Amino acid sequence: MTSNIDFYNRKINYLRVSITDRCNQRCFYCMPGNGVAPFKHSQILSYEEIIQVIKTAVQAGIIKIRLTGGEPLVRKNICYLVSQIVSIPGIVDVGLTTNGVRLKEMAEPLFEAGLRRLNISLDTLNPIKFFNITGKYHFHEVWEGIETVMDLPFDPIKINMVVIRGVNDDELENFARISIQTPLHVRFIEYMPVGADSLWCPEKTVCADDILSRLQKIGPLIPVEGNHLDGPSLRYRFESARGEIGIISAVSNHFCHKCNRLRLTADGKLKPCLFSDEEIDIKTALRRGASQKKLLKIIENAIAKKPVGHDMNSWRAIRCHRHMSKIGG
Ligand code: 5AD
Ligand code: SF4
Repeated sequence: MTSNIDFYNRKINYLRVSITDRCNQRCFYCMPGNGVAPFKHSQILSYEEIIQVIKTAVQAGIIKIRLTGGEPLVRKNICYLVSQIVSIPGIVDVGLTTNGVRLKEMAEPLFEAGLRRLNISLDTLNPIKFFNITGKYHFHEVWEGIETVMDLPFDPIKINMVVIRGVNDDELENFARISIQTPLHVRFIEYMPVGADSLWCPEKTVCADDILSRLQKIGPLIPVEGNHLDGPSLRYRFESARGEIGIISAVSNHFCHKCNRLRLTADGKLKPCLFSDEEIDIKTALRRGASQKKLLKIIENAIAKKPVGHDMNSWRAIRCHRHMSKIGG
């Protein structure tokens, strides 16, 4: 048994790295209206510390990295971090999830640094609704950011839409059509109950089956074969579409049995599961100069602690109190 196979025979090969909890937007489902106190700079892992964790994680079987936030593009010198990560032997896949606000200016430097995979969060095509969701008037910046990255050979470029009933579910079909006309991969994410005072309630979640049946009214959806690096997204494409559709259903359709991921928070905690409060501190060991062997043990321990699954079909079942902005999705 290699060290990245957990007790339930899942191969944990994907590390999501949150590099900051700060963000230039205030999406209502991610941050409480009165904001969240940000971590102090001293609490946040330095780039050198992050690189050390990733190099050790490779020994534990990690081959795929995604940088997240908060908003990762608000942290200085991110291109330096990207270029270091892409050159780590054993890492075959590096992606970044961004809200797109700073993408227009950052697209080229990120490409130069070696980044190829991009996920951009966009929940509406309506600038006023965009303000209602994010608290900021950034719609046009984000849209120009998307156009800029489409002019460069990033591949794939994915658009993440969190579907919230009564907020943006009327735009499902318009988002889906983007995947027909452009090479963008449009992914519909079920609204998830994460965060202590999250405004989530079951009625606001549009389940994957409903999303699918609404999309099928546009035209037949052809399933797309996944590969071993794929996450939990169900992949489809419309006939003669340039792009793809993805549906991510954490709530209605548990994907725990094929969960391949571990998370590193900006303040140096490993999180075995998004829906649990369990965290394993790796920062203290890093800052005490622990050996590579000791750090590897900590990562293997975090992998071993991945739970078999979650039960969050009710509001009371939420067991992760950390805000999404401090996890990174
Ligand atoms: N449910 C689903 N997705 C969420 N995100 C943030 N909070 C939630 C939530 N409660 C998404 C963001 C972004 C990614 C980082 O996580 O929209 O796409
Ligand atoms: Fe920022 Fe993303 Fe959270 Fe919105 S969802 S507040 S863009 S981190």
